[in-house]
Amino acid sequence: MSATTATPAKRLDVDAIRAEFPILHQQVHGKPLVYLDNAATKQKPRSVIESQSHYYERDNANIHRGVHLLSCRATDAYEAARARVRKFLNAAEDAEILFTRGTTEGINRVARSYGELLSAGDEILISHMEHHSNIVPWQMLAKRKGTVLKVAPIDDAGQLDVAAFERLLSPKTKLVSIVHQSNSLGTINPIAELIAKAHAVGAVVLVDAAQSCSHLKVDVRALDADFVVLSSHKIYGPTGVGVLYGKRALLDRMPPDEGGGDMILSVTFEKTIYNKLPHKFEAGTPNIAGVIGLGAAIDWVESKGLDAIAAHEDDVLRYGTQKLTEIPGLRIIGTAAHKASVLSFTLGDIHPHDVGTVLDMEGVAIRTGHHCTQPVMDRFGVPATARASLAVYNTRADVDALCVALHKAIEVLG
Ligand code: ALA
Repeated sequence: MSATTATPAKRLDVDAIRAEFPILHQQVHGKPLVYLDNAATKQKPRSVIESQSHYYERDNANIHRGVHLLSCRATDAYEAARARVRKFLNAAEDAEILFTRGTTEGINRVARSYGELLSAGDEILISHMEHHSNIVPWQMLAKRKGTVLKVAPIDDAGQLDVAAFERLLSPKTKLVSIVHQSNSLGTINPIAELIAKAHAVGAVVLVDAAQSCSHLKVDVRALDADFVVLSSHKIYGPTGVGVLYGKRALLDRMPPDEGGGDMILSVTFEKTIYNKLPHKFEAGTPNIAGVIGLGAAIDWVESKGLDAIAAHEDDVLRYGTQKLTEIPGLRIIGTAAHKASVLSFTLGDIHPHDVGTVLDMEGVAIRTGHHCTQPVMDRFGVPATARASLAVYNTRADVDALCVALHKAIEVLG
């Protein structure tokens, strides 16, 4: 759970927050919905939903290319969202904010583009708790360029072995790509310390902030992060859009990995001159409505305050951790001292998918499976876990409903 801050965070009116999420107020299988699958995707507040319909009802036009009013309004709204993201991440300039389809595309883009600057024998260091999207692109790069993938181990609580991480760093390490908060364990990595250690050997660092950005401040300049990736849908925004932050000095050196419209200044059959940042990396018509929705989501999160969101989620996490440990046969996977919003567990020898199916019939939506982190499952000797994950609209009552449903699962399946 997050470290206590010096100034206590303001208390949120969670009932009022819940009222802003239309989807939460429904029944599934005749039971009130208890949505605990927030690490997979978060629900959207009305302001985000309305920002998208407003765009389609009033402003829909392609951006950057039109002189007509709708195109100008669409362009302004799209670029205003970029400025909001820049401020949210405290980047130095808008040009360092590239829109992507999501975290996965952001990492793949760095692997494809920054990867072009790497040579055979150069090392990439990741950790054992990475999502497949932060493993497979580096394996693909290794095949393409002969780079070498190194993996820092984790301990039995699901915490990074920082000493081993440091031992794996060397002048051969060109890039460290590391998750800020694990999606399957909840572990929060000491990201500032890891970045400093990586920089000491001259490596650049990519931070996967997909899970962390909805409750932890990711200040790219304070952290001195080189790349940061995130997904809009995990921060209460629409699906299909994300962000790749990169330092200008790096982005300027990197070749574009996709060619097409908008990423060029001029094209002849003999020669193409690429556009300036950020357009060099945004070929084709982007997800305009999605980007505008992401801007609205950031406004919404900032109106509540990240500290207040984190404090509320930590309270529910603490309560949930206690309640789950009282359930016979339940084993929590991921017990890091510093963790947030994720309760991964197994229940005796009942398969997590069966647990999830019984819970669904009780109205409780959780995720079951390997959560795109098969190496984590292997590390803990389980094929899968059941995972309840929290957002700001979850309450202690949601945890109580989860526990009642788990007792039902034991009764039916145990
Ligand atoms: N990465 C998402 C999850 O953890 C899909 O569920």
